[in-house]
Amino acid sequence: MLRNFIFWLSTKKSVTNALAERGMRYGFARRFVAGEALDDALAASKELNGQSRSVSLNHLGENVSTADEARKVAESYASMLRALDRDSLDGNISIKLTQLGLDFDVGLCRSLARDIAATAAGMGRSVEMDMEGAAYTEKTLRIFEAVQREFPATGLAVQAYLHRTADDLERLSALKPKLRLVKGAYREPPAVAVQKKSQVDDNYRKFIATLLDGRFFPAIATHDLAMLDHARAIIREQKISPDKYEFQMIYGIRRDLQAQVRGEGHALRIYVPFGTEWCPYFMRRLSERPANCLFVLRSLFAESGKSHTPATGS
Ligand code: FDA
Repeated sequence: MLRNFIFWLSTKKSVTNALAERGMRYGFARRFVAGEALDDALAASKELNGQSRSVSLNHLGENVSTADEARKVAESYASMLRALDRDSLDGNISIKLTQLGLDFDVGLCRSLARDIAATAAGMGRSVEMDMEGAAYTEKTLRIFEAVQREFPATGLAVQAYLHRTADDLERLSALKPKLRLVKGAYREPPAVAVQKKSQVDDNYRKFIATLLDGRFFPAIATHDLAMLDHARAIIREQKISPDKYEFQMIYGIRRDLQAQVRGEGHALRIYVPFGTEWCPYFMRRLSERPANCLFVLRSLFAESGKSHTPATGS
């Protein structure tokens, strides 16, 4: 209920604008977002690399509506790759196809995605495609298949909650691709996705086993201890070597588990989001864990306490 309410709030401009105005200034947004500028994300990546974790940079923002905007985003993805390379950081980038024109020109989107993957491949790096709402799944898969055939290191997120995912895994297996298994972050109807957490978790467990069966390079992306334990048990039993899979977690979430997983010698990649359009992303993280709202509320109360004091430097 609270989860749905926060998710609904995330679609309200007045709320997101108010948060956006205060989030970075008062620090609470930095819990899940590295900052607004690429340099902030690079600084966070350097620190994470220092802890033996690789990164996947994600420039926040979603659907664009013109070809010019799509090309600008593609250029910004290319600059992220150049910056990772210049600073010799261990990382790749995650891209969202709706930022590259998926809504209005699939051909343009495919060609921009291809160019970004080519730039990455030229540096010995890779690109991972995020999976967005179910309306985009089929189109995303088709673009992924085209790009991955040319650039095999390209990865794709697959969502455990979708009914179609078991079939998609069979379809994709011929490519031997890198797949990032996530539970799924969007609100989807019962016709498209299972609704109960227990069902999502059952699917997730089943797909961990599928992804670890040798036909994929699996990236197990979760902070759920039960899912992590399931994956670690299979890895142990089947003696799967640490270069054949990785775990992925999100910047700022369950840092205790991040340290534990890395401490056990598993490869760990941290998804590092940054950018000025951080608010909808931030609200999604809040909706996943309403307890997170407490620290936002504390920050906002602290702010109203300060409202009698002249603001300094902003
Ligand atoms: P679950 O939601 O069951 O949470 C398990 C535990 O993790 C919680 O009990 C809590 O301890 C902790 N936790 C989870 N979320 C938290 C939060 N926001 N704050 C604090 N603690 C939290 N989705 C998608 O649809 N498309 C995509 O491309 C991606 N990409 C992606 C990349 C990476 C690296 C990750 C880790 C996740 C995604 N996701 C995603 C998001 C994913 O679908 C899912 O919404 C979140 O990972 C939360 O699910 P968990 O598997 O962590 O389990």
